[in-house]
Amino acid sequence: MRLILLGPPGAGKGTQAKRLETQFGIVQISTGDMLRAEVAAGSAVGQEARAVMEAGGLVSDDILIRMLGSRIDRPDCARGFILDGFPRTVPQAEALDRLLEGRGMRLDAVIELRVDVPALVERIAGRFTCATCGAGYHDTFKRPRTEGTCDVCGGHRFVRRADDSRATVEARLDAYQQQTAPILPHYAAHGLLHPVDGMAAIDTVTAEIMAVLARLEAGQAAPIR
Ligand code: AP5
Ligand code: MG
Repeated sequence: MRLILLGPPGAGKGTQAKRLETQFGIVQISTGDMLRAEVAAGSAVGQEARAVMEAGGLVSDDILIRMLGSRIDRPDCARGFILDGFPRTVPQAEALDRLLEGRGMRLDAVIELRVDVPALVERIAGRFTCATCGAGYHDTFKRPRTEGTCDVCGGHRFVRRADDSRATVEARLDAYQQQTAPILPHYAAHGLLHPVDGMAAIDTVTAEIMAVLARLEAGQAAPIR
């Protein structure tokens, strides 16, 4: 199965991608995580991306398309993948079409997580992750079961992203409206777009996505056109 999770910053793409990864045994490809790893490694790509990401802008299409192309050729993508954070511009969506076509692959669905902007700022400003295993938490919506201890790995150190300040979130939302939202009609025209209410509780959103995928499997899903 090959899926795209689309939605503005804080919509829940990473949260849901991790659940689908476990459920279906297919990999999550988060271009944001890949770029953060490049920044942490101090690579040439990381050095170019760092300032752009901290300002809330989008890193160049050339870098992202090259990065995604080599990622989907890795053996762990053979069973399928969940794209989280790619494509983010019309040129990236067009490049993805070509990348897939060249490999004899096709997309099964594009899930659009729809959320209200004020909720996004609250979600992002409250987000933190386990420094050891990357499990995601939130100050209000998803605290660890034991305060200060990761539910997944038992780690005790947590981190917040450099681009999760309220000021940067505004720029990231703007980038989404200006550059990413215009790709929605592309997928609607191909009959691949399935909107899901991302305002619901995390478990409810997962259940809705699973319901869309089950309907697709049964040949009954009605995409937005
Ligand atoms: P990226 O890492 O992709 O960030 P993003 O799109 O801004 O999205 P987020 O990761 O902030 O949000 P999310 O939707 O994953 O939400 P999450 O599940 O964490 O990109 C970062 C930067 O890298 C970009 O700004 C850009 O500079 C660059 N970049 C990346 N890809 C690029 C590309 N293709 N082209 C160019 N540049 C690129 O949830 C958020 C919080 O809310 C969590 O705390 C979670 O617990 C909570 N939450 C989730 N769902 C719910 C719910 N239903 N109810 C209540 N709380 C919830
Ligand atoms: Mg994310």
